[in-house]
Amino acid sequence: MKNDMKTILLDRETIKKRVREMGQEITRDYQGEVPLLICILKGSVVFYADLVREIDLPVRFEFMTASSYGSATVSSGEVKIVSELDNKIAGRHVILVEDIVDSGRTIAYIKNDMLKKGVKSLKVCALLDKPDRRVTDVQADYCGFVIPDEFVVGYGLDYDQKYRNFPDIGVLKSEVYEK
Ligand code: PRP
Repeated sequence: MKNDMKTILLDRETIKKRVREMGQEITRDYQGEVPLLICILKGSVVFYADLVREIDLPVRFEFMTASSYGSATVSSGEVKIVSELDNKIAGRHVILVEDIVDSGRTIAYIKNDMLKKGVKSLKVCALLDKPDRRVTDVQADYCGFVIPDEFVVGYGLDYDQKYRNFPDIGVLKSEVYEK
């Protein structure tokens, strides 16, 4: 997989250190509470698994699937909720966990939906933020890294469902997706 990368943007040690800091920040902010962390599948699963183990609080797990890219490298602009939550979220402190906020459409759509369901509080925790591509005014409350407008894969992020298990975050060579 490494041969398909133009550069490694964030290596696993850098990611690990930052995820630990993010977990510590959430631990401080939610003292005495039991936050419900929602993993937005599939891209967030690797980040989620590491983040929850850096939070020193009781937490609840939830998973939902949203999709906006299909097999393209650019968002289609249409967000689909493919699978919904199993349990009620009304009255809970909810943290949406995302791998990346790009156009911001996915998180804006989900936030809007959650707010209608009567959550007690709602925050967004994103590992990556690509502000150059934003078309909505959403911001992550917890942000791991601000990155340039390049197509990144690894640590959960895919190109056509591949590279999700690459342990670092790399910039894919353009010839890989131009083939
Ligand atoms: C990716 C990513 C975010 C979203 C960000 O998901 O995981 O959910 O796109 O893009 P946006 O800010 O432009 O909406 P994708 O739809 O590719 O599904 P995946 O998580 O299953 O890879």
